[in-house]
Amino acid sequence: MKKLRIAVIGLGVVGTGFLTLLDEKKEVLEDKYDLTYDVVAVCDKMRGSIYNPDGLDVSLILKESPMADGLEGTRGLSSFDIIKKPEVDVVIEATPTNLKTGGVGLEHARRALSAGKHFISTNKAPPAIAYKELTDIAKNNNVYYGFEGTILSGTPAISLAIHGLPASEFKSIRGVLNGTTNFILERMENDGMDFDEALLLAQSKGYAEADPSSDIDGWDVCAKVVIMANNMLGSNMTPDDVEVRGLRNIGLSDVEAAKKKKMRIKMVGSLTRKDNGGIKACVVPELVDRSDPLYHVHGVTNALVFDTDTTDTVTVMGPGAGGRSAGYAMLYDLVEMHRHRKRLY
Ligand code: HSE
Repeated sequence: MKKLRIAVIGLGVVGTGFLTLLDEKKEVLEDKYDLTYDVVAVCDKMRGSIYNPDGLDVSLILKESPMADGLEGTRGLSSFDIIKKPEVDVVIEATPTNLKTGGVGLEHARRALSAGKHFISTNKAPPAIAYKELTDIAKNNNVYYGFEGTILSGTPAISLAIHGLPASEFKSIRGVLNGTTNFILERMENDGMDFDEALLLAQSKGYAEADPSSDIDGWDVCAKVVIMANNMLGSNMTPDDVEVRGLRNIGLSDVEAAKKKKMRIKMVGSLTRKDNGGIKACVVPELVDRSDPLYHVHGVTNALVFDTDTTDTVTVMGPGAGGRSAGYAMLYDLVEMHRHRKRLY
C-alpha cells in the first residue's frame, strides 16, 4: 500500500495525544495493518505550522514544537493552504468545538471532504450541526469521515453501535457523556469541593472545553446526543430538538441530599424511541440509584447504556475525555479508514 500522507491540524492536548500514539504505534501499524505513513504537515494557531511533502520528524515536533530548528519545510501555511495540498491524503483535526457557528472545524471538514481528503476529527460541532451535509460530501467523494472521538473519547461508542451491534434496534441510548461534569459532581460528593474549585481542577487536567460553559450548561452533551441520534438512530436531528438543562442550578447541598438517599446526581444524555416512532432527546441532571449502571460511573469516565431488541442491555464504560484517549479515537479512525481504503483500491 502507498504511504499515507497525514496532516495534523490543532496541536493541543488531543492533537498531541494523537501524534504521540501514532509515533508509539508506528511498528504495530505497519506490521499488523500494513499501514505506513508520513506526517507531512502540522498546523496550530498558537504553535505555528510546517509542511514538508517528504515527511516531518514527529518525535522532534513532540519534543520541541512545529517551530523546532531541526525541522525542514515550508512554514507559515494556514490550515486551509495545507488542506488543499495534493500531497495530503488524510486530515487529522482537533480544533476546539464551536457549537454556535461550527467555527473553523466545520470549514475544515467541508474543505477537506470536498477536496477528496479523508477527514478524522474530534471536533463535535461539524457532525452536530451538519451531519447530513458532511456525510453526503464524504459519500459522493468516496472518502472517510471519522468522528469516533466525539462520543466517549477513546472508548468505543460509534464503532460499538455501528459495527458491534449490527441489525439491532435501539429502544433507548442513555449515558454519562461529559467527563468534566461527572468529575466535578464526584469531587463535590467525595471531597465536599465547591463547584468552581472542582471546575478549575478539571480544566487543569485538560478535560474541560475551551469554553467550559459548554460542559456545565449541557451543550457538549447536547452535541453528542445529536451526533448519536443521527449516526446510530438514522435521525435528522439538530441541537434545537434536544431538551437541555445543565448543572448551573446544582449545588453542594443537592449533591449531599442525593448522597443521604444513597443516590447520585448524574448529568444524563438520552435518546428514547417514542411509540409514534419519533425520538425524545434530553440532557438533564438525573437522580440515579445503585441499580442504574450510570450510578457507578466515576470521575472523568463516561458510559453508554444501549437498550436493544437483540441482546438486551449493553453497557460500555471507559475514559470520556483527555488527550491520549481522544488521540486514540483518531488512531482508531485512521486504522478503520485504512481498512476501507484497502477495500477501495
Ligand atoms: N469537555 C469534554 C468532556 C471533552 O469533559 O467530556 C470530551 O468530549
